[in-house]
Amino acid sequence: MEWQPGGVAAHGLAVSAALLCLAVLANPLQEQGQRVQPVASSAGMVVSQEALASGVGAAILRRGGNAIDAAVATAFALGVTLPQAGNLGGGGFLVFWHGPQRRAYALNFREMAPRRATAQMFLNGAGDVDRARATRSLLSTAVPGSVAGLLAAQGRFGRLSRQAVLAPAIELAERGFPVYPQLAESLRQASPLLQSDTTAKRLFFPNNSGPAQPGGLGASGVHFYRVGEILRQPQLAATLGLISKQGAAGFYSGEISRQLEALMLARGGLIDRQDLGAYRVRWQEPVRGSFRGLTVLSMPPPSSGGVTLLQLLNLLEPFDLALTGLNSASTIHLMVEAMNLAYRDRNSELGDPDQMAIPVERLTSKAYAESLRGQIQLDRHTPSAQLAGLAPLPSNSTNTTHLSVADRQGSLVALTTTLNFAYGNGIAVPGAGFLLNNEMDDFTAKPGVANAYGLVQGERNAIAPGRRPLSSMTPTIVLNTDGSPWLATGSPGGSRIITTVLQVLLNRILHGLNLASAVLTPRLHSQLWPDQISIEEGFSPDTQRLLEGKGHQLLRTAAMGSANSVELLPAGGSLGVADPRRPEGAAVPERP
Ligand code: DON
Repeated sequence: MEWQPGGVAAHGLAVSAALLCLAVLANPLQEQGQRVQPVASSAGMVVSQEALASGVGAAILRRGGNAIDAAVATAFALGVTLPQAGNLGGGGFLVFWHGPQRRAYALNFREMAPRRATAQMFLNGAGDVDRARATRSLLSTAVPGSVAGLLAAQGRFGRLSRQAVLAPAIELAERGFPVYPQLAESLRQASPLLQSDTTAKRLFFPNNSGPAQPGGLGASGVHFYRVGEILRQPQLAATLGLISKQGAAGFYSGEISRQLEALMLARGGLIDRQDLGAYRVRWQEPVRGSFRGLTVLSMPPPSSGGVTLLQLLNLLEPFDLALTGLNSASTIHLMVEAMNLAYRDRNSELGDPDQMAIPVERLTSKAYAESLRGQIQLDRHTPSAQLAGLAPLPSNSTNTTHLSVADRQGSLVALTTTLNFAYGNGIAVPGAGFLLNNEMDDFTAKPGVANAYGLVQGERNAIAPGRRPLSSMTPTIVLNTDGSPWLATGSPGGSRIITTVLQVLLNRILHGLNLASAVLTPRLHSQLWPDQISIEEGFSPDTQRLLEGKGHQLLRTAAMGSANSVELLPAGGSLGVADPRRPEGAAVPERP
């Protein structure tokens, strides 16, 4: 295996392998005029938000693993090397195109509310949402789904043994890996959160005994990991070892479940061993739509991602956006008006299909899009107040992670996983070495009051025992017009995930951009409330003025998303792009 845990060079190796491949053009003519190129492979490809983890997945492909083996190995490795988003204590979704079977699957491993959760659990005496309780306490944690989900996918479709796909993550945790610049910075930024939990503090900050090392001491007297220092996580290695030996039982019953229950009991959480034992993943049919003859497969509820993405594509399909042009004011105007309509439905109509009927077919039908399209004025922004909803507060909290994998059998995996916020609620399970999610904040704590992503949601997403909170995660696969597999993508970004995926697809399908340019191009976002367009750097002042002339308000925001994407090439081989917005990511080919 080329992947080398603990070697200082490993991170750089994977990156330089990826960089070398940047020089390879899939088709020089096709690429004319494109400033950036995807990484090319003559076989499979793994793209994730951390280079060592991508390297783990590529090595699994080289050892004969398939796309599922590689995705699962990468996801477990991200739980070690990308602790702000990779996880054992969170949940996620996976969309899978099974090449040999020519069939798609969706796996729901979203967290579930514990059975003692109640609709009003985040309201204080005055009936207001207690934001700290909803995001920072142990009440904010829902029953984790990641371990069950990754093992279910691997057990059903993997070719290698469970032990083989978990071994690299165990080794990375045990031997450690060199802290890379973005991790050092992320831990520094999260130190107020992580330092307030004695267990998390021990896991992510060097032992405070001994003399201070130059550059390693923060203003508060706290030691930080410096770039290149080795981060070892022996407790996490032991937990991963239990999972490797015992499967899901190693996490949901036995020692780990006892440790988690003891923490909850001691600090006011609700999850007990009965909740852990009752956790179940769900295999679902992906939502399926068409766009200009291509087939789009994405995640059904309890993610809003697939439904809202298909609704947006349906709304925009008849407009000639290629003619109005990439990121022109006319194109952006139409996209934004469509986004506001689609998010209105997202926030009121969607919830957990295990507990209520969700009108997926109606919302994703072409006929419904046609009826809605009439509400779009071609030259004038419709103020959100005229569409409905209640005004929320915006927020930028961002951390989730998406990985995409292609293999030689023509399989594709799109997998998005999260703790919700960066490092979840910042609380780690003593003795077990992993952080807990704060996914309960994705529920509607109070109808009409915004959550962390400024989403104002309705009763259908109210907290209830055993329910899964509505998500925006949008792992997505696109098939060619002949039904053959083409592209896998997805992103972090909270409520901006759906519009990020939309733009990658529109850029690639309509605007003639290659995969790298499609991912790189500046992004925008609108979600009904707040009534404004968030824009990244890179939109011309002329365009902005034209949009203002149509009645839009624009706000320059931080970079949005990290759309790690792959494509299968018709003649064999694949392309990959790690979104440069998060430079710690890498596209690692199985073979040059
Ligand atoms: O499931 C959701 O929609 C959110 N919990 C995702 C959070 C997220 O993407 C944060 N980061 N970038």
